Amino acid sequence: MQLQVINSPFNQEQAELLNRLLPTLTDAQKVWLSGYLAASPFTVLGAANNQGAVLPVQSSDSKAAKEITILYGSQTGNARGLAKKTGKTLEEKGFQVTVSSMNDFKPNNVKKVQNLLIIVSTHGEGEPPDSALTFHEFLHSKRAPKLTDLHFSVLALGDSSYEFFCQTGKEFDSRLEELGGTRLYPRFDCDVDYDEPASEWLEGILGSLSTELEGTSATSASPVAQSTESEYSRSNPFKAEVLENINLNGRGSNKETRHLELSLEGSGLTFEPGDSLGIYPDNDSALVEQLLAELPWIAEETVIVNKQGDALSLQKALTSYFEITVLSKPFLEKVAKLSKIEELQDLLSPGNEEKMKAYIHGRDLLDLVRDFGPWGESAQEFISVLRKIPARLYSIASSLAANPDEVHLTISAVRYDAHGRERKGVCSILTAERLQPGDTLPVFIQQNENFKLPTNPETPIIMVGPGTGVAPFRSFIQEREETGAEGKSWLFFGDQHFVTDFLYQTEWQKWLKEGVLTKVDVAFSRDTDEKVYVQHRMLEQSKELFEWLQEGAHLYICGDEKHMAHDVHHTLLSIIEKEGNMSREQAEAYLAEMQQQKRYQRDVY
Ligand SMILES: Cc1cc2nc3c(=O)[nH]c(=O)nc-3n(C[C@H](O)[C@H](O)[C@H](O)COP(=O)(O)OP(=O)(O)OC[C@H]3O[C@@H](n4cnc5c(N)ncnc54)[C@H](O)[C@@H]3O)c2cc1C
Ligand SMILES: NC(=O)c1ccc[n+]([C@@H]2O[C@H](COP(=O)([O-])OP(=O)(O)OC[C@H]3O[C@@H](n4cnc5c(N)ncnc54)[C@H](OP(=O)(O)O)[C@@H]3O)[C@@H](O)[C@H]2O)c1
Ligand SMILES: Cc1cc2nc3c(=O)[nH]c(=O)nc-3n(C[C@H](O)[C@H](O)[C@H](O)COP(=O)(O)O)c2cc1C
Repeated sequence: MQLQVINSPFNQEQAELLNRLLPTLTDAQKVWLSGYLAASPFTVLGAANNQGAVLPVQSSDSKAAKEITILYGSQTGNARGLAKKTGKTLEEKGFQVTVSSMNDFKPNNVKKVQNLLIIVSTHGEGEPPDSALTFHEFLHSKRAPKLTDLHFSVLALGDSSYEFFCQTGKEFDSRLEELGGTRLYPRFDCDVDYDEPASEWLEGILGSLSTELEGTSATSASPVAQSTESEYSRSNPFKAEVLENINLNGRGSNKETRHLELSLEGSGLTFEPGDSLGIYPDNDSALVEQLLAELPWIAEETVIVNKQGDALSLQKALTSYFEITVLSKPFLEKVAKLSKIEELQDLLSPGNEEKMKAYIHGRDLLDLVRDFGPWGESAQEFISVLRKIPARLYSIASSLAANPDEVHLTISAVRYDAHGRERKGVCSILTAERLQPGDTLPVFIQQNENFKLPTNPETPIIMVGPGTGVAPFRSFIQEREETGAEGKSWLFFGDQHFVTDFLYQTEWQKWLKEGVLTKVDVAFSRDTDEKVYVQHRMLEQSKELFEWLQEGAHLYICGDEKHMAHDVHHTLLSIIEKEGNMSREQAEAYLAEMQQQKRYQRDVY
């Protein structure tokens, strides 16, 4: 029978929601719902992004309902941090919580879970983070069990400037529903400034779960708390003083790679090799001036930049608070809605997808304002569609043991021409052109549990890091030197030219001489007619490389995600196939097993 809500006490929106929900219910769910509504006073849930039907949690066993499993899939640490904080908050509210990386969770155990929270980011071009790959693949395979007893909710992390925004979270969400699970709260998709929506999501989860807790008032969640030992964090960055800022490339190089040393003195911030440093950069003041010149409001006009009511001048807001260098489809949609500019609406209409992507590529806010004119009745309305400048992450290139109270970075300057204008990367060019010793930068530590030295100091390590990808390996070797670790180590480094681009050359040579580093292989791509890359060097030494792997070596890749990391991955597969006498499938399983054991780790961007 098709249930339809027509004459009812519900308003139109509620009736529509019910009419969408009711046909999706199984008989068992309908019986449960009618009994539930008849028997219990219940919390009315606030539906947030309307991304699916919502039911309060119910279970015949209230003890089981208090058990919550949080699984996270995280590449650079955000989802992991949120999972830990969510777990802590739920524990404080009386729930029994298990927090685990998807990587450490036996996929088939999902059928034993009753309440599941998934917190997952998206990487690559809409792909799961490495630590979520196995669980994601399992759930999407034929082996995935029916999950009719499961109550779940997904918090998806992403960046709306990517085409496949929060894709992995969306996939988990729809797959869990397909497998029979019931949403206990709708999926939330979070952009780079995720703290507020994550807190809202958690509040919703608590509201939903609270019906199961006797005598516990769990309706108002404390905001997701920042819990680091230092008072400084992503939401309260430390102003680190610049100690040193030098160009590592020699004269005549095509590249500019800055070695930046910052002081962490007095911050209480600590890190381990493999972690990253987050920087909140300012926009280029020259670009802000050009933008202001196109706007009908004065630079000094005051605007409110956030929900907390912080007031800044328009100039300061465009310099230090809002992103002005990236266009994305969701952003254009907001502008089009606010401005009703016809050409913009046309660009966003169905069928113009490719035209829209071509327009966005390489253009910024200044281009948009020049092409379509400013939008909004006031400066306040103009900035209302902008998002906060996202922090930039940099793999830490030093060890605290070797350089107490300091953090070193290796930053490649991003410069290119597009649409007749020279473009400059916000953070890398701030570093390259404006940052002087004595200046300060707002920074925070981003822990990365997915890129760590082996706990056993005798375990061999193989490090593949062309260009700035070499940064964390400087940290690894500094650390191993300090701790006197005796495991073998092998570095593959590559860049354009030997003479100008061998980053930290003298340090590697010193470590090699002293035996801290066992082997170095270099690939200078533009010193020969034919390009030579790190993976070619790996292939040349495939026998020895496979022997190291068989001895239990950990293999690390850092640097460019788009091309290098994929090519090195495929080369590794070929090496394992050839030297291990395996089929391609067996080689893939071998590498997947290494990944599962955290012996194959990547820090790619
Ligand atoms: C975990 C992690 C670790 C990292 N570690 C390092 C590191 O150690 N060293 C390092 O240098 N970087 C590192 N990065 C990258 C770094 O975070 C920044 O992305 C990088 O410095 C660029 O930032 P920016 O502000 O200078 O440039 P942005 O202002 O962010 O501009 C870069 C953007 O410009 C666009 N762009 C670039 N070239 C072109 C082109 N030719 N045409 C059109 N558009 C283009 C692309 O969209 C690109 O994303 C890391 C990233 C992550 C996620
Ligand atoms: N997301 C961002 O905004 C951002 C910002 C900065 C850097 N990055 C990425 O980070 C990378 C690091 O930049 P970088 O300047 O330090 O170095 P890089 O551009 O990665 O170059 C380092 C070396 O790698 C070589 N290389 C190019 N393609 C390769 C491939 N498929 N496999 C193996 N090696 C390859 C380069 O050779 P050739 O150049 O001669 O081909 C060069 O010799 C960049 O490639 C870029 O993609 C991203
Ligand atoms: C190399 C790279 C690729 C990314 N690709 C996507 C993407 O395709 N879609 C998306 O929504 N976000 C993408 N992001 C943004 C991340 O999902 C976002 O920064 C998230 O907060 C990271 O969470 P994590 O630290 O838990 O991995 C990408 C980030 C990086 C560094």
